Amino acid sequence: MEKKEKSNEIEEVEAFPFINGENIDLCPRNSKLAKVYVCWKNHPRVRKYARNVVPRTIEDQSKRFERRTEGLVDHISLDVWHKKDNKPIGQIGLSRIDWINSWANTFLQIGEPDYWNKDIGTEATELLVEYAFNELNLNKLHGGVAVDNIGSWSVAGKIGFKLEGVKKHEMYVDGKYVDTKIFQLLKEDWVKGKQD
Ligand SMILES: CC(C)(COP(=O)(O)OP(=O)(O)OC[C@H]1O[C@@H](n2cnc3c(N)ncnc32)[C@H](O)[C@@H]1OP(=O)(O)O)[C@@H](O)C(=O)NCCC(=O)NCCS
Repeated sequence: MEKKEKSNEIEEVEAFPFINGENIDLCPRNSKLAKVYVCWKNHPRVRKYARNVVPRTIEDQSKRFERRTEGLVDHISLDVWHKKDNKPIGQIGLSRIDWINSWANTFLQIGEPDYWNKDIGTEATELLVEYAFNELNLNKLHGGVAVDNIGSWSVAGKIGFKLEGVKKHEMYVDGKYVDTKIFQLLKEDWVKGKQD
């Protein structure tokens, strides 16, 4: 049987921009895009450093849209929507949000490799940081990146994240343990960086 390469054609879906950027908008996630999200989660190159090591099904993805009704939100995820091409190309957000101590972990995934190294991850992270500090009133953001994932830590560096430490043998990638760089950005440093 001939194996058909999974195409990532996106059915007509409306975007509801939540945050406007220059080349991208950040939009709420959309259950109509479940297939697209599953495609990104399972893509061998995209999932390598995102550590999606368990195959994802459409059913798994659809369950993620079921709203939790209790407690404070501790996870905010947004689609990265390419304005010119009018389509979603990735996702970005905050996880493990700690509202008492005012910090969160950041995550970013550009699910369409054709859009890598075009400054989109950087623009998306700038928008997320502004939202986290100036709208959500968070005080510190951090993220962990495998030392080999140059794209990710380049983005962190361009935004002004500082290296906080290195965790030894924190990830298992391609048959070997790799170290993880831990980055942090304090609101006061980010504000100062914008004034300089
Ligand atoms: C990592 C990722 C988020 C980066 O997003 P992006 O849109 O490609 O990022 P940008 O284009 O804004 O910046 C990437 C930078 O890394 C640099 N870079 C990437 N790979 C590189 C390499 N192998 N060597 C040197 N520089 C490299 C690019 O040149 C660019 O820097 P520049 O603008 O100074 O030229 C994206 O590639 C991705 O989603 N990858 C798959 C999922 C993933 O790894 N997520 C992170 C899990 S922690």
